[in-house]
Amino acid sequence: MRKNILLPWNKELSYIIREIVETAKKIEHKKTIYWENIWDPVAKWEKIPQWLKNIVKNANEKDEVYGYCPTRWLDKTLEYVMSKNSKLKKTDILFFNWLGDAINKIYKWLAFDSRIIWPNPAYPTHSSTEAAHAGSFHITYRLDPNNHWYPDLEELENKVKYNPNIVWILVINPDNPTWVVFPKFIMEKFVEIAKKYNLFIVVDEIYEKLTYNKEEHYCLSDVIWDVPGIAMKWISKDLPWPGARCGWIETYNTDKDKNFADFCHSLLKFKMVEVCSTTLPQYVLPEIYESGDYKNYLWKRIEKYKKRADLAEKILKDSKELKIIKPKGAFYLTILFDKVDKQKELKIQDNEIQNIIEDALVGKERFDEKFCYFMLGETWVCTVPLSWFNSDYDGFRMTLLEEDEEQFIQILEIIKEFSKNYWE
Ligand SMILES: Cc1ncc(COP(=O)(O)O)c(C=O)c1O
Repeated sequence: MRKNILLPWNKELSYIIREIVETAKKIEHKKTIYWENIWDPVAKWEKIPQWLKNIVKNANEKDEVYGYCPTRWLDKTLEYVMSKNSKLKKTDILFFNWLGDAINKIYKWLAFDSRIIWPNPAYPTHSSTEAAHAGSFHITYRLDPNNHWYPDLEELENKVKYNPNIVWILVINPDNPTWVVFPKFIMEKFVEIAKKYNLFIVVDEIYEKLTYNKEEHYCLSDVIWDVPGIAMKWISKDLPWPGARCGWIETYNTDKDKNFADFCHSLLKFKMVEVCSTTLPQYVLPEIYESGDYKNYLWKRIEKYKKRADLAEKILKDSKELKIIKPKGAFYLTILFDKVDKQKELKIQDNEIQNIIEDALVGKERFDEKFCYFMLGETWVCTVPLSWFNSDYDGFRMTLLEEDEEQFIQILEIIKEFSKNYWE
């Protein structure tokens, strides 16, 4: 008889935040969907600026962008990244094709019983890959919506103190899905706990450039002290070019811990097996980031997200059912339920849609899943339940990406009205 080919932890690996899209597609023939689950600015109709296209077009004329590049990086890109951070040595930088590429190497190269502690809510690409690798549930520390989404540091410390398997603390700053941007004292506290318990620290800094109040953001390298750590940097959020699949990691304090240095070296060897990452995005990265057009463009985008966040606060502030903590970074809006009856049932007018929604909800037990699916069936607004971000809180996530301000306002009004009627 043939042997089973599945690993026992296969079921821990999921990217559930796309699942509601399948249901939306089934009802799309009836009316246009408001795709509020999307985090891709291009899919949300952001126009790709001509200056960016020109840089890429000019690079495309050069023969060298069609070849392999060195495993770690292209020299000119490395020089550029190093020029921005005096703490970095040449060997501290390693380019990847995208976050998933880095995740696959970093988490899969960990010993099976070495665990990472995640924020709750957490971005599931990280947490589900790590949990699948460990063949167990993810371990989390709570971000507290009643305290600006700051972490429960006591819980974090207790968990790392009593679980010797935890070797890394993971932080996302600014965060997805909560928008939180951690102040310096919190970043220092993460590092302090890592140091006290001899742990490593990883910070995903993908939204680093998208803070609404620049001086509030502190990178890992600003606070790391002598603790071994990794910062993850990607170009897919501050540039409307997620399809470039380009990013890099920066390792700090490899000289302070041999085990950490050996681990980082194993990442390099693993990368050597696949030769190198994509050449073109690395090649144009310094020119893009140094261009005046980029700085203007980034500023305009941040202003737009800030304005959307102000609008969301204004529209939802008198809602009795919904609660937001106003975003300060990234481009998400997480909406929580405020003291509502979670037993309330809903009937959708259209029987065909009611059946599709009920089918989709089979096996789903959380209240926010029911709410999001019914809201989709009744209003055509497609959002993502917060429980899909491994969250203990019920709520949902939409974005601040909508290009058309009128449409953004309309979507929020629809959500507000739907929530009011739901509990009437
Ligand atoms: C915190 C965080 N890290 C990484 C990623 C992955 O980005 P990409 O798929 O563009 O590499 C995302 C995407 O939404 C994210 O929110």
